[in-house]
Amino acid sequence: MGLSHGHAAKHSGGMTHPSSSAADPSPEVAIPTATAEPVPRGDFLLVTCQGGAEDAVATRMVKFLPGCTRGAWRRGALSFRLPAGSDPSSAALDALQANLVFARAVVRCFGQIHWKGDGLLEALRQRLPEGSFDAVHLFPRDVRAQTAADVAAGGREAARRAGLTGEFPTATFTAADPGDVVLDCLADSDDRWWVGWHRATTPASCWPGGFYPGPLPGDKVSRAWLKLDEAINFFGIPLQPGARAVELGASPGGACQRLLEAGLDVVGIDPALVDPVVAAEPRFIQWRMRAREVRLRDLRGFDWVVADMNIDPASTMEALRRVVTAPGARPEGIIATLKLPDWSRAGELDGWLAEFRGWGFLPRARQLSTGGREVCVFAVNRKGRRATPRRDR
Ligand SMILES: C[S@@+](CC[C@H](N)C(=O)[O-])C[C@H]1O[C@@H](n2cnc3c(N)ncnc32)[C@H](O)[C@@H]1O
Repeated sequence: MGLSHGHAAKHSGGMTHPSSSAADPSPEVAIPTATAEPVPRGDFLLVTCQGGAEDAVATRMVKFLPGCTRGAWRRGALSFRLPAGSDPSSAALDALQANLVFARAVVRCFGQIHWKGDGLLEALRQRLPEGSFDAVHLFPRDVRAQTAADVAAGGREAARRAGLTGEFPTATFTAADPGDVVLDCLADSDDRWWVGWHRATTPASCWPGGFYPGPLPGDKVSRAWLKLDEAINFFGIPLQPGARAVELGASPGGACQRLLEAGLDVVGIDPALVDPVVAAEPRFIQWRMRAREVRLRDLRGFDWVVADMNIDPASTMEALRRVVTAPGARPEGIIATLKLPDWSRAGELDGWLAEFRGWGFLPRARQLSTGGREVCVFAVNRKGRRATPRRDR
């Protein structure tokens, strides 16, 4: 079939790979015409998401890529026909994905393959055009019972069972390297896959299916450790040893544990007690109260404000506003989880992001693969960072 599989092509110099850029968090996306790309683009995008987030994805898709039309619709996966004449570059698709927020992966779609018996590889060969792939990512559509790390770790074994490791002998089956051309295989059912490709550029586009491959080590007191770990890696959050963080909604303490491991001094605010393992840390203090009960003057001097309260997102926004606009407060950044009581609340996201801007911060948002029905917002202070970690002043 004339496919050139694997890493050799990447390093052969035989192809032009346009340089990629990090996702642009700007609210509007221009879709420029692509320069040379190694694989034909096709007319469809395949977008994957957490099961239940399909409406949220589709609503943002129409907003940020006007003229696209809906194709297939399954739990956790949607396809869209690109607007007539549009030919987005990989960088433009990264920017689109950043704005979609609820999209786990955005892939140029070759279409579906169906097969009977052991006909998978033949069906795949017939569907794939000329091109080469540095990485092959196989991931399930609906992952209700699995963790993100299970999906990322299980992909290679699933690919071996499907015969893909023999078919693509030099390809990577785990996280791709930036710049890699990735063949995406979304397992829709036992005899049907969606196939497509993307160029790995941002951290999440290197992870199979956009699932964070980091595990949750056994000594962590809650899953919030892993959510914060994914946020740090996804957004590239520059936590500096010696900085001070406050977390609103800190119990049982996994996120505080992650902040302490990064070398920060941490205050955890929560009426519920934090785990004794975290409480015993010398650089940790708990203020056992609700966020609104903290005196304004005590909110000065924090470099990072983290929020993870299981309350309505409007209430989390109000608590954040009080903390980051308190007299004398000038945090470098905010890492906030906004829990969505139901998916319809996703429609309020752009209003919340506008509030962050109003407080003087530049927000980016992502529905993390290790999180539930919620959005993580990372917002940096427009005025820049503090010059020196507090402990050294
Ligand atoms: C999802 S848990 C937080 C998990 C925690 N971040 C961790 O790392 O383990 C939500 C927490 O928010 C707390 N919470 C709810 N309302 C709050 C408020 N108004 N102020 C402070 N904490 C609050 C709850 O007591 C609960 O412990």
